[in-house]
Amino acid sequence: MTSHLVTGIAELVTHDGRFAGPLGVVRDAALVVDDGRVAWAGPSSSAPAADARTDVEGRAVLPGFVDSHTHLVFAGDRADEFAARMAGARYTGGGIARTVAATRAAGDDALRAHLARLVAEAKAQGTTTLEIKSGYGLDVVHEERLLRLAREVTPETTFLGAHVVPPGIDRNAYLALVTGPMLAACAPHARWADVFCEPGSPHAFDGDESRAVLTAAASAGLGLRVHANQLGPGPGALLAVELGAASLDHATHLDDADVTALADAAAHGGPVVTLMPGVELSTRSPYPDARRLLHAGIEVALATDCNPGTCYSTSMPLMIALGVAHLRMTVEQAVRAATLGGARALRRDDVGHLRVGARADLCVVDAPSVAHLAYRPGVPLARTLDVG
Ligand code: NIG
Ligand code: FE
Repeated sequence: MTSHLVTGIAELVTHDGRFAGPLGVVRDAALVVDDGRVAWAGPSSSAPAADARTDVEGRAVLPGFVDSHTHLVFAGDRADEFAARMAGARYTGGGIARTVAATRAAGDDALRAHLARLVAEAKAQGTTTLEIKSGYGLDVVHEERLLRLAREVTPETTFLGAHVVPPGIDRNAYLALVTGPMLAACAPHARWADVFCEPGSPHAFDGDESRAVLTAAASAGLGLRVHANQLGPGPGALLAVELGAASLDHATHLDDADVTALADAAAHGGPVVTLMPGVELSTRSPYPDARRLLHAGIEVALATDCNPGTCYSTSMPLMIALGVAHLRMTVEQAVRAATLGGARALRRDDVGHLRVGARADLCVVDAPSVAHLAYRPGVPLARTLDVG
């Protein structure tokens, strides 16, 4: 067992209440990693000795980003749809069927290679924990296959058979499949289940349908997450609270009753609200107001939603920059949301912070403070730091 000392940290974000400010910051800091875990963090003047040493030479270090919402297993792209949107077309979810067709037609090796490329892209930008959903298979064989492939790269896999009703199958027959044989085949490969609850979309699911999907998944032992209130108001936020979901995702269109219910639930471990401003960027739609949620005491996560339809980006630093610029977050709120917020959305206490005992998942920023992540948008400053 080798202990590893990281020195030369100009600013260390720990989320440890022993240290300064909302992020638990130590300046001129050092960190000791032992057996893949944080063993010590504090001012460099009192750093203990260790077997090996890495000097980051005046850079900032923070917990690796936790991207708690992605759809990384798919084939093909929809750049034409994106370009049409930028020329005035609206996003409805209809294009999902095109990705389903391309994904079904791709072999395991092609999907695996594409997935590996996207995971490497995320890691190169500082992401160390990724959630990955199915949802581009939409039959028993392909949903099971996508989850199996996702499971090869992360334990945080989510069954999203209820993404949309695929073309050529009756709604009720599809719901029976999703809550029956498809769930049975997929549950062994998934930690979570999710549903696209969006009554305004002809392709997605209404409140009652979503409740049926989620209660069946919970009975199969899966934790719950909900895609909702993305395209317009709807029952998804209240459903997420009612069913004890870990996360309500998108949440762009919330009314006062939704925010009140989420705030009341927050006191008892209610849903984290996961905001994905890359979606609003890439669909040219209005951004949600994170400050309203934060003021109500609700934990907010930032995630990429990386998928070929609404946001083809793996970049958590971009989400931090958008969170600050467009969701009206402070730098501290955005950095917390991309680390601790994501971890809480996945109900993980071993990642998203650098308190003693945490996994030593580190992100180093090529700048003296983490504010540069938002201050210098689009500049590739962040990367993961592998030690010990
Ligand atoms: O999270 N909203 C539903 N699902 C994805 C988009 C999927 C697609 O368009 O391919 C999302 O935005
Ligand atoms: Fe999504």
